[in-house]
Amino acid sequence: MNTLIRFAKSAVWALCLSALIAGCVAKEAAPDAPYLEKRGNVTQLIVDGKPWLALAGELRNSSSSSPAYMDTIWPKLKAMHLNTVLAVVSWEQVEPVEGEFDFTVVDAMIQAARKNDLRLAILWFGAWKNGITSYVPTWVKADRERFPYIQTKEGGTLPILTTLGQNTVEADARAYAAMMKHIAATDAVQRTVIMIQMQNEVGLHGDTRDYRPEAVAMFQAQVPAELMEYINTNRANLLPELQEALAKAGNKTSGTWEEVFGVGDYTDELFMAWNYARYLNKVSEAGKKEYPLPTFVNAWIVQPQDLHPGDYPSGGPQAQNHDIWRAGAPNIDILSPDIYLPDFPGILTRYARSGNPVFIPESSAGASGAANACFAFGQLGAIGYSPFGIDSRMGDPTTDPLSKTYELFASMTDLITEHQAAGTIGAAWLKGGMNPETTLTLGNYKIKMALSQGRMSALSSMPQSTATGFGMAIMLGPDEFLIAGYNMQTTFAPVDSTQGIVGLSKVQDGAFHNGNWEAGRWLNGDETQLRYDLLQALKEGQSGFGLRFSGGAPTLQRVWLYKYQ
Ligand code: DGJ
Repeated sequence: MNTLIRFAKSAVWALCLSALIAGCVAKEAAPDAPYLEKRGNVTQLIVDGKPWLALAGELRNSSSSSPAYMDTIWPKLKAMHLNTVLAVVSWEQVEPVEGEFDFTVVDAMIQAARKNDLRLAILWFGAWKNGITSYVPTWVKADRERFPYIQTKEGGTLPILTTLGQNTVEADARAYAAMMKHIAATDAVQRTVIMIQMQNEVGLHGDTRDYRPEAVAMFQAQVPAELMEYINTNRANLLPELQEALAKAGNKTSGTWEEVFGVGDYTDELFMAWNYARYLNKVSEAGKKEYPLPTFVNAWIVQPQDLHPGDYPSGGPQAQNHDIWRAGAPNIDILSPDIYLPDFPGILTRYARSGNPVFIPESSAGASGAANACFAFGQLGAIGYSPFGIDSRMGDPTTDPLSKTYELFASMTDLITEHQAAGTIGAAWLKGGMNPETTLTLGNYKIKMALSQGRMSALSSMPQSTATGFGMAIMLGPDEFLIAGYNMQTTFAPVDSTQGIVGLSKVQDGAFHNGNWEAGRWLNGDETQLRYDLLQALKEGQSGFGLRFSGGAPTLQRVWLYKYQ
């Protein structure tokens, strides 16, 4: 009996222990799938239970189709301090024969990314890439009956799939869902894949809207009830572009497209936005049923020379169409811009409205890219930044400004994301001739960041008309800031000007190692004396002191401030 009890007890212990171990192993081995979470005023991407800053780069379109081609590239991306790679998976490659799937290329990229300690955002190139149909399998291209193309006003056919092809959306969704099922099965432990881009830069080229007979009939019919209901429910919070069109048309609560939105190009564009959104929503929904990873779409943004939708892909997720996309595609989480135009801050700000999470899948590399990334993370609470064609822009990671910036941001990710959520972070994007200075307000201080003018600047010989700089400020306490800077100088003033002049109490440079701040030099003298014309400085409310960031790489300084009258 005693032996039995002892046995039973030890069996219970053994069971508990193994359950505990299994629990721990299971917990360690299988973190939650990546998801988006609103923290404070921003939405963050949670990976392995923590906010993730995607310090990313997007491969060129054809690179990831060949694992052998990619072999030597993965380690270089890691050496450049990327933590996330955006890589294409195309429909034509995974379903070359209808109903027969081959995920060799997906498996290879996941394995290679893991080996190099990188995460992946997969770009699903299905029906459309840059608005054009080219990545679909041959059996789709060949079947002109089953998978109909767009028609122009004059009755011509463009080699672009219409959004209204029922067989098309079903086939695209089936292939995409099969890929997501495969990823769910093979990536449930490591969670290497953290996001998915649906298609690429969708929208109609060459015309403002589709003129297939069924499209024309839809356009002439009543605005779909779901869309009308969304508009009527959210009217007060719609973006100004849509509000203006609705108001001009008399704020109707139902009617045809032209009755509700007015007659003109914008209505055609909104009609196309609704149809693309409905299509992509179906595909995304099918994928999320298999594996609910966050999804984003990317916009070919309006270019300065464009006169009409159709000059840029009509109906894409451009900023002026966001309400329609939100109404039509609740299964798409992020509406992203691809920004190659100079005014990065101005454009990105339009994509950060109405709580849209901020992620930039395509933009510049180099110093401009570093300034963009700093602005996106520090000023708009972004979850990621990614220059396009990263595999052909691989500079020396020990000197490349974007690599150095990624290295710096990686060392302070927890701090950045914590302050994004708390709203105690800001950033300046500086460009000679465009925006040489910016003043941020954090707590009781105005923080002016201006392109470097220091005589010790490695970049000061660069004509300021082309110079790039940036700065990020994090409020560590009421009078204490951590500043990251590149080719810029910082001065301080009180928000309340009756509080006098701000002086530097103490300044130290330093770096984060394993998340801990390690202070370096005490900065003073030439390193903090920005000017000697103190009478003039006094008239400008300045002490003459400030912070200089003048090396060839971004660095950190921690500053304690005081005020005097
Ligand atoms: C934008 C597209 O989204 C990319 O796939 C690529 O084609 C680039 N343009 C080329 O600059």
